[in-house]
Amino acid sequence: MSGGAPDRCNVLLAGSGGREHALAWRLRQSPRLGNLWVDPDANAGLLALGRGCPQSLEPRNRFHLERWMEREDIRLVVVGPEALLEQGMADDLHRPPHRLVFGPGKAGARLESDKAWCKQVLRSANVPTAESRTFNRDQLDAALHFVRSRADPVVVKASGLCAGKGVVVCDTPAQAEAAVRDMLERRLHGDAGATIVIEERLRGEEVSVLALVDGRTIWMLEPCQDHKRVGEGDTGPNTGGMGAYCPTPLATEPLLRQVEREILVPTVDALRREGIEFRGVLYAGLMLTHGGPKVLEFNTRFGDPETQALMMRWKGDLLDALWRTAAGTLDGAEIAFSPGSSCCVVVCAEGYPGKPRTGDPLEGLAEAEALGSASEPLACFHAGTKAGAHGPISAGGRVLGITASAPDLARAAERATQAAQRIRFPGAFFRRDIGHRALARR
Ligand code: AMP
Ligand code: GLY
Repeated sequence: MSGGAPDRCNVLLAGSGGREHALAWRLRQSPRLGNLWVDPDANAGLLALGRGCPQSLEPRNRFHLERWMEREDIRLVVVGPEALLEQGMADDLHRPPHRLVFGPGKAGARLESDKAWCKQVLRSANVPTAESRTFNRDQLDAALHFVRSRADPVVVKASGLCAGKGVVVCDTPAQAEAAVRDMLERRLHGDAGATIVIEERLRGEEVSVLALVDGRTIWMLEPCQDHKRVGEGDTGPNTGGMGAYCPTPLATEPLLRQVEREILVPTVDALRREGIEFRGVLYAGLMLTHGGPKVLEFNTRFGDPETQALMMRWKGDLLDALWRTAAGTLDGAEIAFSPGSSCCVVVCAEGYPGKPRTGDPLEGLAEAEALGSASEPLACFHAGTKAGAHGPISAGGRVLGITASAPDLARAAERATQAAQRIRFPGAFFRRDIGHRALARR
């Protein structure tokens, strides 16, 4: 099929975490992969799969990075994290037809990096989402008045990127008032919180629907569910994600068609009307309310840890699919998922989601991996790790994403949990109930 990836495609994968390890793991299975270069800050797992890029990915180093890319004949850059997209990495490095970047330019990334603007786009396109109002630092009193006068609970969000920490789900007006003051008055999130969005608190099940978008064609991936709270039974503070599974039966086939029709298509069309060719992952964080699916947020990249669960079941040539997304030839891609379910259990360091304990050697990785088999694969994706003198050591809050696949979710979750139990370092913990909402439904 024309429009696909070149035969020997050298790739630079930007991003250093669990999502990128899972992407690298699947990319390594592509027959078209030439050299795989990974982020200069890559975790120990990523570094075992590719060579570390010797150039900084900082915007100010673009000139040297480009020269290095020319020398190494990099044909595809895959951008994992939102921060790099917001910095305009895709605008700077996309040089079709020779070199493509998977990931939207700054203008498209704004859907995630500017929630206030995202709400405007959604409203203009009639995409179902929570009712909201936007306030800036000059409107502190109006924002306080607004939260005091509302009878129903609200959610207060910093408009900019806050690494998942900018959302406060409030039960009472007093909490909402405190959140408003934290952001607008105390500048808790700096400029990322200079504008806030206050929205109605929606109720229902949360589902993540990720789609590849090549500017025009939309290819929905299997629906996932993330577990954001640190504690079992979805209790305690929010985290970057304690586990995910795929597919989730909470998103039925008719519901997914509705999401495509009412949410993804109108959003991509609205972006086009703004002159934005969105190429990359459009990730819709949805609440399944009584009134139908509504957008909680858009991300413009692969989710973490959803990607670990998705890559475990990805069939076919990932490199070709990413290339086609970047090239605008996605309609020729062959994308499929292996049958059954996958489940990712995130093993965290003591203290997370606060300041985590780091620097501990990770034991039991080989034992955990040995639980995998050809029919029921299992992988220990690294997240916050780095190479130590005698093997990987912990280097972040979310340390590993133990990901298993099996004929059904109950077994995938059981196997991922069993493998997570083999991992030993002081203070390690993980949730044993990933997938519980789907399992309770059976
Ligand atoms: P976000 O960082 O935007 O994904 O938000 C983090 C979490 O806050 C989401 O996963 C939801 O659990 C919750 N959340 C965000 N917006 C709302 C809303 N309007 N109603 C209820 N919960 C929300
Ligand atoms: N899993 C949530 C995120 O990637 O933002």
